[in-house]
Amino acid sequence: MRIDTVTIKDLDEIYNLERKSFKKDAFSKELILNLIIKNTYFFKLIDDEISNIIIGFIIFILDREDRVNLISLLIRKSNQNKGYGTYLLNYALKKVKEMHKIKTIVLNVNSKNKAAIKLYQKFNFQIVKKIENYYQQKDSAYLMILNI
Ligand SMILES: CC(C)(COP(=O)(O)OP(=O)(O)OC[C@H]1O[C@@H](n2cnc3c(N)ncnc32)[C@H](O)[C@@H]1OP(=O)(O)O)[C@@H](O)C(=O)NCCC(=O)NCCS
Repeated sequence: MRIDTVTIKDLDEIYNLERKSFKKDAFSKELILNLIIKNTYFFKLIDDEISNIIIGFIIFILDREDRVNLISLLIRKSNQNKGYGTYLLNYALKKVKEMHKIKTIVLNVNSKNKAAIKLYQKFNFQIVKKIENYYQQKDSAYLMILNI
């Protein structure tokens, strides 16, 4: 298992994972390309023992001088619930803590997404607000915050 920075070569694989998982709410290919080009914090988890398949990825951006926004986290369906999401999030949090100016991490999560909410709560993220009609299908989102 290895974590590496996402590059343009990964674009199709990342986009396919994103589309399969988030359907109508998936990021467009153009947006993903932009995130790669702009040197966002965009990391992939690779299974380098069997193949170089991407097991999952995490994306976060600096949306204020002192704040990081975790805009995507995904683990391939066949690999979910095996601790990989925890592993990737742990890695990202370590990176964020190395950026000394950062005081807060924020994220939005579908309020129906029990697995993700449990994962974030495990890392002490708190639900601070419910945002109605946040997603394309009118699902609501929770705004979650972690002060570091
Ligand atoms: C949410 C997601 C990233 C979690 O990754 P994962 O690798 O499956 O999670 P882990 O195996 O590390 O489990 C982390 C915690 O989540 C919870 N969890 C994981 N899968 C769960 C499930 N199917 N049902 C309920 N809780 C679940 C557990 O509390 C677990 O902690 P524990 O095992 O210590 O009790 C993954 O399910 C995923 O990619 N889902 C689709 C995309 C998505 O919804 N991303 C989040 C967008 S905000």
